[in-house]
Amino acid sequence: MQDDDKRAAALAAVAEVRDDMLVGLGTGSTAYWAIAALGERVAAGLRISVVATSEASAAQARDLAIPLLDMAEVGAVDLTIDGADEIDGRCFAIKGAGGAMTREKIVAAASRRMVVIADGSKRVERIGGVPLPVEVLPFAQAFVTAQLKALRGHSVLREKDGAPYLTDSGNLVLDVQFAAMRYPVSLARKLDALPGVIGHGLFLREVDAAYIADGGIVTTLERSRSLG
Ligand code: 5RP
Repeated sequence: MQDDDKRAAALAAVAEVRDDMLVGLGTGSTAYWAIAALGERVAAGLRISVVATSEASAAQARDLAIPLLDMAEVGAVDLTIDGADEIDGRCFAIKGAGGAMTREKIVAAASRRMVVIADGSKRVERIGGVPLPVEVLPFAQAFVTAQLKALRGHSVLREKDGAPYLTDSGNLVLDVQFAAMRYPVSLARKLDALPGVIGHGLFLREVDAAYIADGGIVTTLERSRSLG
């Protein structure tokens, strides 16, 4: 059921893709469906190229013979389709449960339009319920953990198979639970300014719209212009 909703949201977003677009591929189980649908459209003749936000999504694109460019050589993207862990009515999102938030933010920032795809469980009144993933240079782990504590954030080092989890760029991830996330814009500014923080999962300016599917019904959320 949840998987059907992920797929329905993904298909709604993929309908925005046109010939000659350069498309940013997100990461995760919802983005998986978008990439699969793009693969089918490419096999049917759609002419696009893509950049990927993770090695996993790049591998999926390669398997489906979707023309893949290296983001290191791309300055601008037409449309990015990506999942989220939480999204609210302001189009504020938390991302990074899959650990790809830094690359995801770079691709989103390079995009003329960025759409989130999600099942209904991701739609929240206000973001902040899930821990915020923060990508940290290993050298700065203790320093950043202490700085986050001063911001009233409790950090847990992400692990995989009993060892520290490493991002595609070889950095650590701290999952940080804040007592309350009342001022996400101010928090994002503080995190952006912390030496050793490579990136974080607060997406406050990047998301233009979201397709959210619940019980098979897809709702569209467009960013209000007043939010900038
Ligand atoms: C990966 C992400 C994902 O987009 C986010 O975690 C949602 O994943 P899923 O679609 O599997 O729920 O930010 O870094």
